[in-house]
Amino acid sequence: MKFGHFDDSRREYVIETPKTPFPWINYLGSEDFFGLISNTAGGYNFYKDARMRRITRFRYNNIPVDDGGRYYYIKDGETVWNPGYKPVKTELDSYECRHGMGYTTFTSSKNGLSAQLLAFVPLGYKGEINRLTLENNSTEVKTVSVFSLREWCLWDASDDMLNFQRNFSTGQVEVENGVVYHKTEYRERRNHYAFYSVNRPVDGFDTQLEDFLGMYNGFDRPDVVFAGESKNTIADGWQPCASHKNVITLQPGEKQSLIYILGYCELPEAEKWEALHVINKKPAKAMIEQFATCAQVDAAMDALRKNWDRLLSLYNVEIKDEKTARMVNIWNPYQCMVTFNMSRSASYFESGVGRGLGFRDSSQDLLGFVHQIPERARERILDIAATQFRDGGCYHQYQPLTKKGNNDIGGGFNDDPLWLIAGTAAYIKETGDFSILDAATPYDCNPNDTGSLLEHLAASFNHVVDNKGPHGLPLIGRADWNDCLNLNCHSTTPGESFQTFGTADGRVAESVLIAGMFVAIGPELVELYKRKGMIDKAEAAQKEIDAMRETVLTHGYDGEWFLRAYDAFGAKIGSKECDEGKIFIESQGYCVMAGIGVEDGRALKALNSVRDILECEHGIVLQQPAYQTYHSNLGECSSYPPGYKENAGIFCHNNPWIMIAETVIGRGGRAFDLYKKIAPAYREEISDLHRNEPYVYSQMIAGKDASRMGEAKNSWLTGTAAWNFVAISQAILGVKPGYDGLTVDPCIPASWDEYTVTRMFRGAKYVIHITNPKGVEKGIASITVDGTAISGNVIPVYPEGTTHAVEVVMG
Ligand code: BGC
Ligand code: NOJ
Repeated sequence: MKFGHFDDSRREYVIETPKTPFPWINYLGSEDFFGLISNTAGGYNFYKDARMRRITRFRYNNIPVDDGGRYYYIKDGETVWNPGYKPVKTELDSYECRHGMGYTTFTSSKNGLSAQLLAFVPLGYKGEINRLTLENNSTEVKTVSVFSLREWCLWDASDDMLNFQRNFSTGQVEVENGVVYHKTEYRERRNHYAFYSVNRPVDGFDTQLEDFLGMYNGFDRPDVVFAGESKNTIADGWQPCASHKNVITLQPGEKQSLIYILGYCELPEAEKWEALHVINKKPAKAMIEQFATCAQVDAAMDALRKNWDRLLSLYNVEIKDEKTARMVNIWNPYQCMVTFNMSRSASYFESGVGRGLGFRDSSQDLLGFVHQIPERARERILDIAATQFRDGGCYHQYQPLTKKGNNDIGGGFNDDPLWLIAGTAAYIKETGDFSILDAATPYDCNPNDTGSLLEHLAASFNHVVDNKGPHGLPLIGRADWNDCLNLNCHSTTPGESFQTFGTADGRVAESVLIAGMFVAIGPELVELYKRKGMIDKAEAAQKEIDAMRETVLTHGYDGEWFLRAYDAFGAKIGSKECDEGKIFIESQGYCVMAGIGVEDGRALKALNSVRDILECEHGIVLQQPAYQTYHSNLGECSSYPPGYKENAGIFCHNNPWIMIAETVIGRGGRAFDLYKKIAPAYREEISDLHRNEPYVYSQMIAGKDASRMGEAKNSWLTGTAAWNFVAISQAILGVKPGYDGLTVDPCIPASWDEYTVTRMFRGAKYVIHITNPKGVEKGIASITVDGTAISGNVIPVYPEGTTHAVEVVMG
């Protein structure tokens, strides 16, 4: 069952009912100022950091779900309704929500009045624009009252939901010419305030939520709205909010628009005040002037659209399968951009107060968005590297506002360092910018202790070399990619963190996944050394990689598949000898991606085992059999009920590792089948089961042990976005950036006869037409570029601004 449809020509998902199985959201903003917006206009805003600079309030875990947002109440006679249906939930005569690239629109109607609400954050602007357009479609003159509502958050979203003895006394606002200014804590240590304006004189306002709603009411029954009169309250402590009242008279057929701005301003210390207790409103007024008219709003929307036209033209496929096209050309790159901006901080599953930016997560996200915004990728790489220690270990997370590592989680996740090499290599291949390797970058966030990025990468590599366990495999530390495989934790007391309890420095527990990563990613460093003329280092590193490959074959293979790990007592994990957790997905994916066992058939066996044991109709589960009981030697993965999360859930993040691995052994049909099982566009028809948004990936789909098998959780902020983009664009469609050009190496279903990839690469345009006359899955018979045959499958780098026609014949 579907709840909407894709409109590919406008790059929108059109939601046809407000009653989706879960709130289906979108993101507004591209640089500093962001908003989350659901299909009922719920959500919130923040500036740069969802925890430390939260602008509007949102109560997670609320009843009803998704309460609080940008609300416009329209009072038309005795009927009160909202364009997004919530919060009043008056049944509408029509409703439509369109989530597009960085904007959302609602078009609804009730009793002959239609409302269109457009929400977006203009490029380079520190505020969200809401344009509400009302149109009288009846034959009578209509006079309606419109009440807006936003609720302020007292900046630090964590304090805001914990420290009520203080918070209930600190809230402060000012109101001038109908603009509500939120200035809590501005009188002391803050240099910023927020404002909420509307572009016409108001007929009333409110800023104290309890008075606006009535003490015992929810957002669905505000006293002020139902009485039709604002109370003109000035908040003093409690819960400050911002509401305007505007009375609008519309002739039959007439249309009028109101433009609301939620903005954020920062001021230098010396310019904070106009007078005692009166804040300096100059910057806010300048922002308000920028969007006083519909023409200004239209121009900014146009600029936003053009920006997305450009971003989405960088990799484009023309292919018969429209679902693949919609994922590759629209929604997957869009999700990659959102994960770049948000990391894992703010979604409807991430509260914005927990994790900041993850070292591992942000490094992997780079793989998916580096072609879209290489300049910002460069900055991100250096920020991430700055949270690395001299010994190559690193903070697992850092806060975007301070760019400092989080001490409460610390380091010791021994896969982390390698992802920095992977992310940097992807950046250099995309851009050819080797200069990044020489950039001086702090260790431990200390600007006085720096090393070049190349030295950081060496430290990453050596961290594995210097931390091997009894079998010569890499020590796992607190965890590797699987945050919940906590082999050194051994926690038996509720409340202890699986990840930070126990020691990070266990010298026995080893990870076959990290070994596979080392063999797959390590060669990137070897290549960089060679290109820098550091031949000795290149050779030494290559020896380490070769030795690790042998170690995996000797101690990391279990007959039919790769082992997963050894625990702190030296016992095997992911082995046929185990009762539960006999086989895990991660090491099968990474070891085959590394090419281990490809020559002697062990890789093929491993992937067949994945197919036979781990795969189900909704994707590949993380391990089998699921853990039925808690094992303190394994940690959090065995704490989840069978079928969910890291206990045999379908992790959409590492399913693509298997897709890519399948292309390594040449099974394009298998790779694409696996792609279709989890790609959201292919799951749209089962939205009632899947429940999350059908336009973006979720982190996890419940696996075959779960009673809710097929149900997705944790949409949007997941490495899934980047890895699926890599799998389809580079491994299956087969166009991938390399140091010296674009490599073309498709691995596709035999039934595909042709498709075209248009790829911008270092400023030149490559139109790559691939035909498959013999119906093969892999292999190239010939390539011509602009009519001339080339040998090999690397299309060279061409001058910026040029266009090249590439004809690839498979066979
Ligand atoms: C989740 C993991 C997540 C980790 C982050 C765990 O509870 O299951 O998926 O990576 O928390 O700390
Ligand atoms: C989510 C985390 O963000 C990611 O870093 C981790 O690899 C997966 N969970 C698996 O545990």
